[in-house]
Amino acid sequence: MPTSLPFALVSRPLPDDWLTQLSGQCRMIIGATGLASLPEHFAEAEGMFSLLTDRVDDALLAQMPRLRVVSNMAVGVDNIDLAACTRRQIPVGHTPGVLTESTADVTLALLLSAARRLPEASADAKAGRWTTWSPTGWLGADLTGAKLGIVGMGKIGEAVTARAQGFGVRVIYTSRGAHPTIETRFSAVRVPLETLLRESDFVSLHVPLTAETCGLINESTLRLMKRTAMLVNAARGPVVDTAALYRALREGWIAGAALDVTDPEPLPADHPLYQLPNCFIVPHIGSATWGTRQRMAERAGENLLAGLRGERLPYCVNPEVYP
Ligand code: NAP
Ligand code: GLV
Repeated sequence: MPTSLPFALVSRPLPDDWLTQLSGQCRMIIGATGLASLPEHFAEAEGMFSLLTDRVDDALLAQMPRLRVVSNMAVGVDNIDLAACTRRQIPVGHTPGVLTESTADVTLALLLSAARRLPEASADAKAGRWTTWSPTGWLGADLTGAKLGIVGMGKIGEAVTARAQGFGVRVIYTSRGAHPTIETRFSAVRVPLETLLRESDFVSLHVPLTAETCGLINESTLRLMKRTAMLVNAARGPVVDTAALYRALREGWIAGAALDVTDPEPLPADHPLYQLPNCFIVPHIGSATWGTRQRMAERAGENLLAGLRGERLPYCVNPEVYP
């Protein structure tokens, strides 16, 4: 490999065919357990291919004086100190769009599982508690005619809205801006967050994790929800205050929750949330299909190579670094 090629750190091993476009274009070193496992290469790194499990903060950036691109294989960039990258004129890339549909699919799966108590029913069947068909056994909530509140009407929020329509669900939403095309297409109505929480039978979170959205769902906002309502989180764990959610589920302020993301992550196996029958948790698998993850890696590769060549990143979250 010619040493004239630019040098990039790759967070962790990925299937070979996800990185083919990088071969011959840059020299790569792949970490065993994340970027933090490559400290001896920080000084010479010109590019970084990060995962959402890597914390890219000011202290890490300070050790990489030659770095000229950060490419995150995720749409969310809350693991990256964007201000610190921008101060250093380092463009940050992400992977919007390619994971929208698979994440919306998992959101609907969570919603249906919570509404119809599938995890509980499955566990009961496996444990021998399915002793008869009971007219009142494992009763859940109807989707048809229910009201779904989408918090954050972006790409995934819209894809969830489209899917929910097929189930006869009415959609209301909260976003910083209005989305008239979505309103017309899906008869969705924009309302303030407080109204959404008071009126929804299901609340689904799709905001990015930012200073503004961290802890958005907390004791006071959970107490606004219907006692029969269910919360779905496929956004980021810290959008929800975990301790408040635990109390809400245990004390019956709301009926249930289904979580693809948690705070902390991973959620330790002895965490009390796992003990609640009305809480269903999966390990951050929103984008976890072969096709989606490969497309994410390819998009991250495009950003990385553009940055190494000194070109504008095709999917850049801090375009203010460009003149
Ligand atoms: P997106 O298209 O940027 O949508 C996010 C939307 O949130 C924006 O359109 C924005 O709409 C809205 N928003 C931002 N701040 C808000 C606030 N303070 N209050 C209300 N709405 C706000 O991004 P996306 O592709 O849909 O992804 C959304 C998030 O999902 C990502 O940032 C990531 O954290 C998470 N995610 C998780 C998984 C998973 O595996 N579970 C997979 C993909 C993504 P307005 O501009 O109208 O406010
Ligand atoms: C996944 O959570 C992502 O942000 O891509």
